[in-house]
Amino acid sequence: ALVPVILSGGSGTRLWPLSRNSLPKQLLALHGQQTMIQETVLRAQVPGASAPILLCNDSHRFLVAEQMQEVGVKPTAIVLEPVGRNTAPAAAVAALVAHEHDPEAVIALLPSDHVVSDEAAFRAALDVAIRAAEAGYIVTFGMSPTAPETGYGYIQRGAPVEAVPGAFRVNAFKEKPNADVAAEYLADGGYFWNGGMFVFKAKTMIEEIERLAPDILPPVREALNKAAHDLDFVRLDKDSFSTAPNISIDYAIMEKTNKAVLVPCSIGWNDVGAWSSLWEVRAQDEAGNVFQGDVFAHDTRDSLVLSGKTLTALVGVKDLVVIATKDAVLVADKSHSQDVKHIVDQLKAAD
Ligand code: GDD
Ligand code: MG
Repeated sequence: ALVPVILSGGSGTRLWPLSRNSLPKQLLALHGQQTMIQETVLRAQVPGASAPILLCNDSHRFLVAEQMQEVGVKPTAIVLEPVGRNTAPAAAVAALVAHEHDPEAVIALLPSDHVVSDEAAFRAALDVAIRAAEAGYIVTFGMSPTAPETGYGYIQRGAPVEAVPGAFRVNAFKEKPNADVAAEYLADGGYFWNGGMFVFKAKTMIEEIERLAPDILPPVREALNKAAHDLDFVRLDKDSFSTAPNISIDYAIMEKTNKAVLVPCSIGWNDVGAWSSLWEVRAQDEAGNVFQGDVFAHDTRDSLVLSGKTLTALVGVKDLVVIATKDAVLVADKSHSQDVKHIVDQLKAAD
């Protein structure tokens, strides 16, 4: 069976002041009626899939459990990380937990904070990915790049996988290249962005971690062996899990493995990494504005304004991001959305 494993560890700092450590972006309804983690679990309920396993930080356990209840999803387990060790140890946890139930289990490791607007295309791509995973590959989804973004992994497409139409070998996987290299890849035309969703057999991933990043498994195994179980929660042992290396699956496994294959797809994917992405994925009015809450505007264009209970008014401006919450207001040039992280750094330093 397909086991969806949902990763909810990031804090989405570039979406400050709505996204906070205590309420990260995947737990917010930024895009639709549901929160992004709710949309993700529902999207993963494809025919033949088991209930999801969720991996999140201990401090978010009640919010996550509540949000699952709201959409009527009963997770197989909610695994709680005492500290974030990034996605490679998280993938190891997922593989070990699923392997215990079924060594042949196919895992779909999915970020909880992405928008996928074409569900039918997503399901079609997932079908291809599952077939490739059953054949022993580690599958990634390739998105056509539109800009030399440095926040993504880049994948060079290789030869088709004969047995699985729609899947291609990966010639090279480069995580987060610098701006010059990203521009080269974009100009080359043979590269895709890594969508950050991975499909693989539990057994395959355990073998590859053992081979390519051997220091990950022992602390993760120990954290699981010593885990405390209460209700649906599996609380990883802190002392053990803290000693796992802090590294992403992209660097630890995907750049090194020769089992990677790529499924290029067009699924309306957006990782909502910054306010400008939210403006892009939301419906804009004739003036190019996205307003939510109590907003009045005159002669204002191409702006994103989210206002809670505060009345926010704009006059004679364009390309702005204005986010008004009850205790903080952000005003930014939309093209500088990525730099919001510097404010968060300043706030941390001032703490
Ligand atoms: N449970 C758990 N624990 N989840 C985590 C942790 C952790 O320690 N760290 C990150 N995550 C979750 C995040 O919440 C997110 O849903 C997903 O794992 C990916 O982590 P990010 O930190 O958002 O990675 P990224 O965006 O920098 O890069 C990845 O995604 C890109 C596409 O959005 C890479 O896979 C890139 O190659 C890829 O292009
Ligand atoms: Mg991300």
